[in-house]
Amino acid sequence: MEFSKMVRYLSDSLTLKINSKAKLLQAEGKNVINLSAGEPDLDTPAIVKAKAKEAIDKGYTKYTSVSGITPLKKAIITRYRKKYGVELSVDSVLITSGTKQAVHNIVETLCGPGDEVIILVPYWLSYPEIVKISLSKPVFIDTSKTEYILKPKDLEEAITKKTKLLILNSPCNPTGVVYPTAILKEIASIIKKRNIHCISDEIYDELIYDKKEGNSMLSLINSPLDNIIIANGVSKTFSMTGWRLGYAIASQAIIKSATKLQAHTTSCASSISQYAALSAFEDAESFINEIRNVLDKRRKLAIKLLSTIDDISFPEPEGAFYMFIDISKFYTSRISTSIEMAEYLLDKCNVATVPGAAFGDDRHLRLSYALSLEKIEEGIRRIRNGLLDVRR
Ligand SMILES: Cc1ncc(COP(=O)(O)O)c(C=O)c1O
Repeated sequence: MEFSKMVRYLSDSLTLKINSKAKLLQAEGKNVINLSAGEPDLDTPAIVKAKAKEAIDKGYTKYTSVSGITPLKKAIITRYRKKYGVELSVDSVLITSGTKQAVHNIVETLCGPGDEVIILVPYWLSYPEIVKISLSKPVFIDTSKTEYILKPKDLEEAITKKTKLLILNSPCNPTGVVYPTAILKEIASIIKKRNIHCISDEIYDELIYDKKEGNSMLSLINSPLDNIIIANGVSKTFSMTGWRLGYAIASQAIIKSATKLQAHTTSCASSISQYAALSAFEDAESFINEIRNVLDKRRKLAIKLLSTIDDISFPEPEGAFYMFIDISKFYTSRISTSIEMAEYLLDKCNVATVPGAAFGDDRHLRLSYALSLEKIEEGIRRIRNGLLDVRR
């Protein structure tokens, strides 16, 4: 069968692949430590679940308006007023089925054949694929030599007449890096000056540690939303990955067009998930501190343990819940790529990691520390032994 050119051009999701292999091995009874998952192991807050059940009982089980229910948009507006001091209008918010769909909607609303989209390496693995689906072209800037932070000069140089969009992600998956406010400001001013757009994916904005405040791109621009679009959602902050609920914040013109697109794809986000997200914002604020504290303890342990392994290096994560470790000094003639290393660690050491190749960097592995302290300790012990064995 001949599949479409676009689908043939897409890459497989290496995270999902390794995750399902790890689950398969676990089902066969193997004691696999899964450091590959992109979601916290905490349960969704009980109040959110209760309010979702209540929504079902009240009959909120029908299509909502395409762009989402007004109370949820208002709760998001309140969040941005309280956290970032910005004032938004209801028609600058689009509720989506996950942050992923928010990014999709905006890329497809703004970009098409002939357009270029700047993506920073290492990247969240869906960005290049989403850009390919829009039939525009991903253009990559390597940030590994600039401490995983985009330098304004590099952005200026990468912008061409075809550039439509930059996709930025702070705190970053996979590095955990959080952009300094001064750099975000410079980037925002280049975006405006060169008349391109920027999607700022801020899905981890509540997961920033050491009291360092994360800045939303929104709080850094004086003018209305014009060129900046925010993508965010409840998946990580409230441990709600399965509810599939996200949102985009943008100018009214962009939201109007993105809503048109959504009307012909998913129609609207799940009504029940929208009420659950409303409850998350209204009733579960204390959960944010709870999850941040839990993850911070795990982050500190992961940093401490990984620091004792000679010949690996990593940027110290300040946000999100990942560590991006450079294991290339352990490459041999037998294992010389991140995929081979991740397969070896899974097959021989029962520990699942994500190959850096999935994020555009073949020297690294991504580990998630969103699991118990015991599992982190055991998982890193297995990695250490596995790496040492490779050299024997
Ligand atoms: C940077 C980034 N953006 C977006 C998403 C997708 O989030 P959602 O579950 O809201 O679609 C993820 C999930 O891993 C992510 O890491």
